[in-house]
Amino acid sequence: MSDPRSAPIGVFDSGLGGLTVARAIHARLPHERLLYVGDTARVPYGPKSPETVRRYALQIGSWLVEQGVKAIVVACNTATAHALDVLSDAMPVPVLGVVSPGATAAVRVTRTGSIGVIGTSGTIASGAYARAIMALAPTAVVHGVACPLFVPLIEEGMITHAATQLIASDYLRPLQSIGVDTVVLGCTHYPLLRQVIAAEMGPQVTLIDSAAETARVLAELLERFNLLATSLPEPAAGVQAMPIRVVASDAPEHFRRMAESFLDWPLDHVEHHVFT
Ligand code: DGL
Repeated sequence: MSDPRSAPIGVFDSGLGGLTVARAIHARLPHERLLYVGDTARVPYGPKSPETVRRYALQIGSWLVEQGVKAIVVACNTATAHALDVLSDAMPVPVLGVVSPGATAAVRVTRTGSIGVIGTSGTIASGAYARAIMALAPTAVVHGVACPLFVPLIEEGMITHAATQLIASDYLRPLQSIGVDTVVLGCTHYPLLRQVIAAEMGPQVTLIDSAAETARVLAELLERFNLLATSLPEPAAGVQAMPIRVVASDAPEHFRRMAESFLDWPLDHVEHHVFT
């Protein structure tokens, strides 16, 4: 039987955004192989019902397990908010989401306890961040703002477009008037808009990207289950610089180009798989 420690870690998101988490995992755990799924056929998850997002998450999780992953990282806040519990119960491997690591990081840096959370409509409506933050800091005041246009703007490559700036300024105005000192980027796509959001909020506000904290918690989890890889993975075929296999449920070539340009990752190939 092969050593479970050398199995890949499954990471999934509705699209591109979760690559920010995959990148942070690679930076923290360079010995690990990653299997990344972007559910590009069904992005965005944000406006979909909790039942639908749970069904998608279970389909992808089951496929990742069939592929032999040793753990699953739900690199999507919306899927974490709606499906982390059912996935953890249904999967035979450890499952980690991004909400709890993001909440932990926010509580660590806030000075005033006034914390903004931006995310998809689904994530904000679920109240998952408010619950996670207040479980750690019961006196914190959490202000959630849904930013439903951010994901389509990012997936369309409009990161530096003037329209994105205008929309960001409209979405973020309420958090500026309240005077939060910390803003959680509660969607794994949003680190790609970090500069726009930071310019809007100003230097006195700390932006929290849950990716690095998720990678730290994942390292602890793998260690606890004795699942940390012990040797460097075989170099990937071709020019691919990262030990990562990438799968998209639609338009894999478009996904490959977008991933390369946003994340500066040379990917020689993105596979196509339809999840049912
Ligand atoms: N990147 C995802 C998240 O973190 C979801 C974006 C979407 O599909 O709406 O919530």
